[in-house]
Amino acid sequence: MSLLLEPYTLRQLTLPNRIVVSPMCQYSSVDGLANDWHLVHLGSRAVGGAGLVITEAVAVTAEGRITAQDLGLWDDAQIPPLQRITRFIVAQGSVPGIQLAHAGRKASTHRPWIGKHGSVKPEDGGWVPVGPSKIAFDPQHTTPSELNESQIRDIIDDFVAAAKRALVAGFKVVEIHAAHGYLLHQFLSPLSNQRRDSYGSCFENRIRLTLQVTEAVREVWPESLPLFVRVSATDWVEDGWNPDETVELAKRLKTLGADLIDVSSGGTSMHAEIPTGPGYQTRFAEKVRKESGIATGTVGMITEPAQAEHILRTGQADLIFLARELLRDPYWPLHADDDLGGNKATWPAQYQRATSREQPIHESDLRD
Ligand SMILES: Cc1cc2nc3c(=O)[nH]c(=O)nc-3n(C[C@H](O)[C@H](O)[C@H](O)COP(=O)(O)O)c2cc1C
Repeated sequence: MSLLLEPYTLRQLTLPNRIVVSPMCQYSSVDGLANDWHLVHLGSRAVGGAGLVITEAVAVTAEGRITAQDLGLWDDAQIPPLQRITRFIVAQGSVPGIQLAHAGRKASTHRPWIGKHGSVKPEDGGWVPVGPSKIAFDPQHTTPSELNESQIRDIIDDFVAAAKRALVAGFKVVEIHAAHGYLLHQFLSPLSNQRRDSYGSCFENRIRLTLQVTEAVREVWPESLPLFVRVSATDWVEDGWNPDETVELAKRLKTLGADLIDVSSGGTSMHAEIPTGPGYQTRFAEKVRKESGIATGTVGMITEPAQAEHILRTGQADLIFLARELLRDPYWPLHADDDLGGNKATWPAQYQRATSREQPIHESDLRD
């Protein structure tokens, strides 16, 4: 009996299994609108058997996009194409989730495959990003303008408005992106936040914006549905954000009604030395889970079904987030079920006859 393929319930939502499509930017949208690419990309992973399919980082304002090609949800016109996607995911027996994000000082960059690092300058169609302090991510990035308190309040409102639209669009899980060096993480980390007001310097002030966004989104997100927060457990830099602070933050988020912390790492500093390797971030998910008592998701170089099963069985995390492995193989959950000896996941009816190994289809039936 594999845990990986067992259902998992948070609030009144039951995921059919514990495999999650981790958010992955596709840089393929025009004006923040979802299109056929997003339908097929996310839809394929639902067909492949993932229990929860989370969209890429969806920007809550146009200036909060990492690139001009990011998905967005700052306008009602962006709802219908997302509705088409959530309908399809639900029809496959999976659950649609959305990651809401603001890129802060890492906004206005090139699509990665263009091969140019750093910001798209305003004169080339980009924009000046915003951040907690006037500190650029690196010399190739535009120095952000510093947000004042009224602009910070506007951004909280933008998260709330986007969450309301996400609900109309049919999403069942909302994940707030507070990781990877984007806006909320920029406030958390002393490396990027050097403010002297109530949003900076001490720990209580640096976590304020993440708490306020979570509290405000929780107010409009239905009681019956779960809210996740993605965090970077460490900046991997001395004097940066660290795992003990992450635990403290997780405790506060739990009190505010967050249901699961999706524990990643890094993203604030170009100088971080990250010791990557199989499951290199699971120990952070375990620490947060054990020390704050909130459910966790883990992510990062998880590729093998037995590895995922071991993480769950040893109580390191409650959900397994997969990114690149699900790009390589959208059917990973169905293969994992085979590998772990279960028969809990089912191939779509359209494929079932043809894919069964126990009852192989007769050659003469292949002439439809
Ligand atoms: C193409 C691509 C796009 C990504 N975009 C996002 C994103 O929008 N939001 C996010 O939180 N993480 C993003 N990530 C990070 C992944 O969600 C994940 O944390 C990371 O890839 C490590 O997991 P993996 O080893 O299974 O790929 C992205 C990763 C990839 C490969």
